[in-house]
Amino acid sequence: MKSTETIYRIKKISLGLLLGGLLLGGAIACASSMPIKQKPGAMLWGENCGRCHNVRTPSDYSDAQWDVAVMHMRTRANLTAVEAQRIVEFLKSSN
Ligand code: HEC
Repeated sequence: MKSTETIYRIKKISLGLLLGGLLLGGAIACASSMPIKQKPGAMLWGENCGRCHNVRTPSDYSDAQWDVAVMHMRTRANLTAVEAQRIVEFLKSSN
C-alpha cells in the first residue's frame, strides 16, 4: 500500500515539474522572441545582411531589384517573413 502511495506521489511531483517546465519554457521563448519582433528593418539589415558579404547599400538597387535580392537572401540568412519584409521596406525607403 505504502509503495503505491509513493509512486503516486512521485507521479504527481513529476507532472508538476513537467507543467512548470512547460510554463517556464513558454515564458522564456516569448521573452526572447519579443525583441526580435520589435526590431526595425534598419537594425535587422545591419545585423543580417553583412554577415556573408559587404553590405550592399540601399541605393545600389531599385525597388524591384531589392524585392528579388531579399527574396533570395531571405533563405540564405534564415529570416522569417516578417524580418524579410521589414528589411525590404527599409531598403526601398532609403534607395
Ligand atoms: C548566409 C550568407 C548570406 C547572408 C546572411 C546574406 N547574403 Fe546576400 N549573398 C550571399 C551570397 C553567397 C551571394 C552571392 C551568390 C548569389 O548571388 O546567389 C549573395 C548576393 C547578394 C546580392 C547580389 C549582389 C551581387 O553583387 O550579385 C545582394 C543584393 C545581397 N546578397 C543582399 C543581401 C541582403 C539584403 C541580405 C540581408 C537580408 C543578405 N544579402 C544576406 C550570401 C548571403
